[in-house]
Amino acid sequence: MTTPEPADRVLARASLAQGNPTGWFEQLYTAAARGEAELPWARNVPNVELAAWASPGEGRRALVVGSALGDDAEFLATAGWAVTAFDVASTAIEAARTRFPTSTVDYVVADLLNPPGEWRQAFDLIVEIMNVQAMPRDFRPAAVASLAGFLAPGGTALVCEVAEENMDMENWQSPPWPFSRADIESVAQDGVRLVSLETIRGGARYWATFTR
Ligand SMILES: C[S@@+](CC[C@H](N)C(=O)[O-])C[C@H]1O[C@@H](n2cnc3c(N)ncnc32)[C@H](O)[C@@H]1O
Repeated sequence: MTTPEPADRVLARASLAQGNPTGWFEQLYTAAARGEAELPWARNVPNVELAAWASPGEGRRALVVGSALGDDAEFLATAGWAVTAFDVASTAIEAARTRFPTSTVDYVVADLLNPPGEWRQAFDLIVEIMNVQAMPRDFRPAAVASLAGFLAPGGTALVCEVAEENMDMENWQSPPWPFSRADIESVAQDGVRLVSLETIRGGARYWATFTR
């Protein structure tokens, strides 16, 4: 007997075949809401490295990219950040609002590939954890340019993606599409510069910080 392919991979393949790099996320969230699929990334707790890193927000503005069910956004709001959190999947945004009905987070449906213009250089903290890598590589330059564009002068961008250098790429099945060091470093554009780049989780992921 063969093991069934996970729903995320099946939906991603169909979506990508139609030239749509993000449509499968909404499909996966709605299937998960019906109990018919699992969200491989749903943890119901904040990302551990973010929780270890985060400093008090003191009212400064944070943007959480690909906010999924809201755990990272809520963690930052509790730490005093004025948080905007966005996801391309409207069902994810609705789920986050439902999970945290008294939240101060501004949850927004938006696309990293075509973000609101008013977000340009508008945030003191950008949190990008495992989202850009969830789109095929052709979309990476546009996604990375959006990330760099969000960062206000003096702010910090955190970027975490799967590290290609420590993966068996010959046998790798996407999604996700892992990053090289050069991919991570490419966030340093348009006045943004790299501050630190390390591997975490036994070399499985990059953890990088940037400022402008
Ligand atoms: C692999 S999950 C990671 C979720 C979360 N950041 C985490 O660390 O667990 C990718 C998330 O990014 C969202 N996403 C994918 N492409 C996006 C895009 N172009 N714009 C906004 N959100 C996107 C998906 O809907 C999904 O919630």
